[in-house]
Amino acid sequence: MKVFITRNIPDIGPEKIKKAGHEVIISKKDGVLTKSELIEQLKVEKPDALICLLTDKIDAEILDVAPNCKVVANYAVGFDNIDISEAKNRNIVVTNTPGVLTEAVAEHTVALILALARRIVESDQFLRQGKYEGWDPMLLLGLELENKILGIVGCGRIGERVANIMHKGFKMNILYYDQKQNQSLDTDLNAEFVSNVNELLHKSDVVSIHLPATEKTRHLLNRETLANMKVGSLLINTSRGSIIDEKVLTEMLKSGPLGGAALDVFENEPDVHPDLLSLSNVIITPHTASATKESRDRMSVVVADNVISVLNGEKPINSVL
Ligand code: DGY
Repeated sequence: MKVFITRNIPDIGPEKIKKAGHEVIISKKDGVLTKSELIEQLKVEKPDALICLLTDKIDAEILDVAPNCKVVANYAVGFDNIDISEAKNRNIVVTNTPGVLTEAVAEHTVALILALARRIVESDQFLRQGKYEGWDPMLLLGLELENKILGIVGCGRIGERVANIMHKGFKMNILYYDQKQNQSLDTDLNAEFVSNVNELLHKSDVVSIHLPATEKTRHLLNRETLANMKVGSLLINTSRGSIIDEKVLTEMLKSGPLGGAALDVFENEPDVHPDLLSLSNVIITPHTASATKESRDRMSVVVADNVISVLNGEKPINSVL
């Protein structure tokens, strides 16, 4: 059977699909296919399986031109780029890649927390700009993390891993907001569950977002909720940009209460609100939290396993429906 991949991914997965006896066609474009390019490719290739990226919007128009498609396998854990109900209407299985990028995203989140708290990027720029005139007792003072409160918004695999590292490694106290309480987190990390996000924002020194993008989580952090944050507190987002109202965030980074933000994701990627680019209390990375060789290889294997299972008539491990 034929598998179409919308962009080059690490070879290990496509090779596995070929070994399982299927044909693999990879888009030759070195970039995201436009909607019309993707439609053209699907009309020509007529694939039995589609491997797509979080940058591909898979909706009714796309699925209509892939009538043989049995599975849409997303090369990502988040699957907000796929219209699930349209896939369901057509009996198309949708899969994702959970679990295999937890460590990479958690490590990146921790790197951002440390860099923001200790003003690493700002310090680097200060020195490169020739502003360093010698040791100064008041120069670039940061926030010490020990005994401070880390608020985790969304305590799934990644949120839980970040909580573990920051509690065990940096002695932060953990607050978390989720749909339900996680007893093991309470016991192992002495973490405190809050059922109201405003309570978490109000109490935390550092807030880290780990939620999926859904209608419910869109702009969860908005003018009203962000106003509850502690003066000088720090906000980290490595999940999805739509969870924060970026325009309001920008205003609050200029006039408070926020002290700083570290963002790996944005509301309208690849665009970033222009003001964020010039604020010295902001660190931005280009959606690279999962970008380790190890994690991207594992994602490639998982995406391949999901496709092979469906093409064999089996239930894939990571079906999201
Ligand atoms: C995902 O898998 O959803 C991540 O955002 C990729 O970095």
